[in-house]
Amino acid sequence: MMISALRSSLATKLEYLLNSKQKFRSAARCPLRRRDSAQVRRCAVEGFLGSHAGYGSDLNLMIQIAMGVALIFGAFLARSKRFVAHGVCQTVVVILNLVIICFWMWPSFHLHVLPRLPKRLGKRFYAVATIHGVLGILAEILGLYIALVAGTRILPETWRFKRWKLWMRIELALWWIVLMMGAVTYWVWY
Ligand code: HEM
Repeated sequence: MMISALRSSLATKLEYLLNSKQKFRSAARCPLRRRDSAQVRRCAVEGFLGSHAGYGSDLNLMIQIAMGVALIFGAFLARSKRFVAHGVCQTVVVILNLVIICFWMWPSFHLHVLPRLPKRLGKRFYAVATIHGVLGILAEILGLYIALVAGTRILPETWRFKRWKLWMRIELALWWIVLMMGAVTYWVWY
Protein backbone atom coordinates (compact mmCIF):
# COMPACT_ATOMS: atom_id res chain seq x y z
CA MET A 1 0.00 0.00 0.00
CA MET A 2 2.73 2.42 1.10
CA ILE A 3 4.95 1.44 -1.79
CA SER A 4 2.23 2.02 -4.36
CA ALA A 5 1.40 5.43 -2.80
CA LEU A 6 5.10 6.34 -2.89
CA ARG A 7 5.34 5.16 -6.48
CA SER A 8 2.36 7.24 -7.58
CA SER A 9 3.67 10.33 -5.74
CA LEU A 10 7.06 9.90 -7.42
CA ALA A 11 5.37 9.53 -10.81
CA THR A 12 3.35 12.72 -10.21
CA LYS A 13 6.51 14.61 -9.18
CA LEU A 14 8.38 13.37 -12.25
CA GLU A 15 5.53 14.40 -14.51
CA TYR A 16 5.45 17.83 -12.84
CA LEU A 17 9.21 18.24 -13.31
CA LEU A 18 9.03 17.26 -16.97
CA ASN A 19 6.12 19.63 -17.56
CA SER A 20 7.79 22.55 -15.81
CA LYS A 21 10.99 21.93 -17.77
CA GLN A 22 8.95 22.09 -20.95
CA LYS A 23 7.21 25.26 -19.74
CA PHE A 24 10.55 26.82 -18.81
CA ARG A 25 11.80 26.14 -22.30
CA SER A 26 8.72 27.67 -23.85
CA ALA A 27 8.70 30.73 -21.65
CA ALA A 28 12.35 31.51 -21.18
CA ARG A 29 13.85 30.38 -24.47
CA CYS A 30 10.76 31.34 -26.42
CA PRO A 31 9.22 28.69 -28.66
CA LEU A 32 9.88 29.45 -32.25
CA ARG A 33 7.13 30.44 -34.59
CA ARG A 34 8.55 28.00 -37.06
CA ARG A 35 10.65 25.10 -35.87
CA ASP A 36 10.58 24.12 -39.49
CA SER A 37 8.27 24.88 -42.34
CA ALA A 38 5.90 22.09 -41.35
CA GLN A 39 5.39 23.09 -37.74
CA VAL A 40 4.09 26.46 -36.64
CA ARG A 41 4.49 27.48 -33.00
CA ARG A 42 3.82 30.77 -31.31
CA CYS A 43 5.78 32.53 -28.63
CA ALA A 44 4.52 32.45 -25.05
CA VAL A 45 6.49 35.51 -23.93
CA GLU A 46 6.25 38.10 -26.68
CA GLY A 47 9.14 40.48 -27.16
CA PHE A 48 8.92 44.21 -27.75
CA LEU A 49 9.50 44.37 -31.50
CA GLY A 50 6.10 43.08 -32.54
CA SER A 51 7.37 39.83 -34.11
CA HIS A 52 6.78 36.36 -32.70
CA ALA A 53 10.20 36.43 -31.05
CA GLY A 54 10.59 36.36 -27.30
CA TYR A 55 12.02 39.14 -25.19
CA GLY A 56 15.52 37.63 -25.20
CA SER A 57 15.76 37.46 -28.99
CA ASP A 58 14.51 41.03 -29.38
CA LEU A 59 16.99 42.25 -26.79
CA ASN A 60 19.81 40.32 -28.45
CA LEU A 61 18.96 41.83 -31.84
CA MET A 62 19.10 45.36 -30.37
CA ILE A 63 22.34 44.72 -28.47
CA GLN A 64 23.97 43.16 -31.55
CA ILE A 65 23.08 46.16 -33.72
CA ALA A 66 24.40 48.53 -31.03
CA MET A 67 27.63 46.52 -30.83
CA GLY A 68 28.02 46.53 -34.64
CA VAL A 69 27.67 50.33 -34.61
CA ALA A 70 30.11 50.53 -31.67
CA LEU A 71 32.71 48.64 -33.73
CA ILE A 72 32.39 51.16 -36.57
CA PHE A 73 32.65 53.99 -34.06
CA GLY A 74 35.76 52.26 -32.66
CA ALA A 75 37.27 52.10 -36.16
CA PHE A 76 36.86 55.88 -36.44
CA LEU A 77 38.62 56.26 -33.08
CA ALA A 78 41.62 54.48 -34.63
CA ARG A 79 41.49 56.75 -37.68
CA SER A 80 41.65 59.76 -35.41
CA LYS A 81 44.67 58.14 -33.69
CA ARG A 82 42.93 57.56 -30.34
CA PHE A 83 44.38 54.07 -30.12
CA VAL A 84 43.76 53.35 -26.43
CA ALA A 85 40.07 54.29 -26.71
CA HIS A 86 39.90 52.24 -29.93
CA GLY A 87 41.39 49.17 -28.23
CA VAL A 88 39.07 49.44 -25.22
CA CYS A 89 35.97 49.92 -27.38
CA GLN A 90 36.65 46.94 -29.69
CA THR A 91 37.75 44.64 -26.85
CA VAL A 92 34.65 45.38 -24.76
CA VAL A 93 32.43 44.49 -27.74
CA VAL A 94 34.27 41.23 -28.46
CA ILE A 95 34.16 40.12 -24.80
CA LEU A 96 30.53 41.15 -24.30
CA ASN A 97 29.62 39.15 -27.39
CA LEU A 98 31.51 36.12 -26.09
CA VAL A 99 29.24 36.23 -23.01
CA ILE A 100 26.11 36.54 -25.18
CA ILE A 101 27.23 33.66 -27.40
CA CYS A 102 27.88 31.43 -24.39
CA PHE A 103 24.62 32.22 -22.60
CA TRP A 104 22.18 32.92 -25.43
CA MET A 105 23.12 32.08 -29.01
CA TRP A 106 25.07 28.86 -28.50
CA PRO A 107 22.38 27.34 -26.20
CA SER A 108 19.71 28.27 -28.76
CA PHE A 109 21.80 26.77 -31.58
CA HIS A 110 22.45 23.67 -29.51
CA LEU A 111 18.74 23.24 -28.71
CA HIS A 112 17.05 24.13 -32.00
CA VAL A 113 19.60 23.54 -34.77
CA LEU A 114 22.37 21.10 -33.88
CA PRO A 115 20.14 18.03 -33.27
CA ARG A 116 18.68 18.37 -36.81
CA LEU A 117 22.03 18.61 -38.60
CA PRO A 118 23.04 17.67 -41.23
CA LYS A 119 19.68 16.14 -42.27
CA ARG A 120 17.71 19.39 -42.47
CA LEU A 121 20.43 21.68 -43.79
CA GLY A 122 18.37 22.02 -46.96
CA LYS A 123 15.68 23.93 -45.04
CA ARG A 124 15.91 27.69 -44.74
CA PHE A 125 15.40 27.64 -40.98
CA TYR A 126 18.49 25.49 -40.36
CA ALA A 127 20.61 26.78 -43.28
CA VAL A 128 20.59 30.45 -42.24
CA ALA A 129 21.28 29.68 -38.59
CA THR A 130 24.12 27.29 -39.52
CA ILE A 131 25.84 29.74 -41.88
CA HIS A 132 25.37 32.45 -39.26
CA GLY A 133 26.72 30.27 -36.45
CA VAL A 134 29.80 29.04 -38.35
CA LEU A 135 30.77 32.54 -39.52
CA GLY A 136 29.94 33.85 -36.03
CA ILE A 137 32.41 31.44 -34.42
CA LEU A 138 35.09 32.57 -36.93
CA ALA A 139 34.36 36.27 -36.26
CA GLU A 140 34.49 35.77 -32.49
CA ILE A 141 37.75 33.78 -32.60
CA LEU A 142 39.38 36.33 -34.93
CA GLY A 143 38.19 39.15 -32.65
CA LEU A 144 39.69 37.48 -29.57
CA TYR A 145 42.92 36.78 -31.45
CA ILE A 146 43.24 40.42 -32.57
CA ALA A 147 42.54 41.63 -29.01
CA LEU A 148 45.24 39.28 -27.68
CA VAL A 149 47.85 40.35 -30.25
CA ALA A 150 47.09 44.08 -30.01
CA GLY A 151 46.53 44.34 -26.27
CA THR A 152 48.83 41.76 -24.66
CA ARG A 153 52.20 40.03 -25.03
CA ILE A 154 50.78 36.57 -24.28
CA LEU A 155 51.25 35.11 -27.77
CA PRO A 156 54.76 34.23 -29.07
CA GLU A 157 56.26 36.47 -31.76
CA THR A 158 55.71 33.90 -34.53
CA TRP A 159 51.93 33.81 -33.80
CA ARG A 160 51.51 37.58 -34.00
CA PHE A 161 50.28 39.20 -37.21
CA LYS A 162 52.11 42.17 -38.66
CA ARG A 163 49.48 43.58 -41.01
CA TRP A 164 47.28 45.10 -38.28
CA LYS A 165 45.09 47.24 -40.50
CA LEU A 166 44.31 44.46 -42.93
CA TRP A 167 43.23 41.97 -40.23
CA MET A 168 41.17 44.55 -38.37
CA ARG A 169 39.36 45.50 -41.58
CA ILE A 170 38.70 41.84 -42.39
CA GLU A 171 37.30 41.38 -38.87
CA LEU A 172 35.00 44.41 -39.13
CA ALA A 173 33.66 43.25 -42.51
CA LEU A 174 33.19 39.66 -41.29
CA TRP A 175 31.45 40.87 -38.11
CA TRP A 176 28.95 42.88 -40.13
CA ILE A 177 28.28 39.95 -42.46
CA VAL A 178 27.56 37.81 -39.36
CA LEU A 179 25.38 40.55 -37.91
CA MET A 180 23.33 40.67 -41.11
CA MET A 181 23.06 36.88 -41.16
CA GLY A 182 21.85 37.12 -37.53
CA ALA A 183 19.16 39.57 -38.62
CA VAL A 184 18.20 37.18 -41.45
CA THR A 185 18.04 34.34 -38.89
CA TYR A 186 15.72 36.45 -36.75
CA TRP A 187 13.53 37.23 -39.76
CA VAL A 188 13.31 33.60 -40.91
CA TRP A 189 12.74 32.21 -37.40
CA TYR A 190 10.14 34.72 -36.19
C1 HEM B 1 30.09 38.02 -34.25
C2 HEM B 1 29.31 37.14 -33.71
C3 HEM B 1 27.80 37.14 -33.78
C4 HEM B 1 26.92 38.16 -34.07
C5 HEM B 1 27.23 39.60 -34.42
C6 HEM B 1 25.58 37.60 -33.98
C7 HEM B 1 24.41 38.31 -34.21
C8 HEM B 1 23.11 37.77 -34.06
C9 HEM B 1 21.88 38.50 -34.21
C10 HEM B 1 21.77 39.98 -34.59
C11 HEM B 1 20.85 37.63 -33.99
C12 HEM B 1 19.32 37.95 -34.03
C13 HEM B 1 18.74 38.11 -32.62
C14 HEM B 1 18.20 36.81 -32.01
O1 HEM B 1 17.41 36.11 -32.68
O2 HEM B 1 18.56 36.49 -30.85
C15 HEM B 1 21.43 36.35 -33.70
C16 HEM B 1 20.72 35.20 -33.42
C17 HEM B 1 21.27 33.95 -33.29
N1 HEM B 1 22.59 33.61 -33.32
FE1 HEM B 1 24.11 34.93 -33.47
N2 HEM B 1 25.69 36.26 -33.66
C18 HEM B 1 27.01 35.93 -33.53
C19 HEM B 1 27.55 34.70 -33.23
C20 HEM B 1 26.83 33.52 -33.13
C21 HEM B 1 27.39 32.21 -32.86
C22 HEM B 1 28.88 31.92 -32.63
C23 HEM B 1 26.34 31.33 -32.82
C24 HEM B 1 26.35 29.83 -32.58
C25 HEM B 1 27.19 28.97 -33.05
C26 HEM B 1 25.13 32.07 -33.08
C27 HEM B 1 23.87 31.52 -33.13
C28 HEM B 1 22.70 32.25 -33.17
C29 HEM B 1 21.36 31.68 -33.03
C30 HEM B 1 21.01 30.20 -32.86
C31 HEM B 1 20.47 32.75 -33.10
C32 HEM B 1 18.94 32.69 -32.90
C33 HEM B 1 18.73 32.92 -31.39
C34 HEM B 1 17.28 32.88 -30.94
O3 HEM B 1 16.54 33.80 -31.29
O4 HEM B 1 16.92 31.93 -30.21
N3 HEM B 1 25.47 33.39 -33.24
N4 HEM B 1 22.80 36.46 -33.76
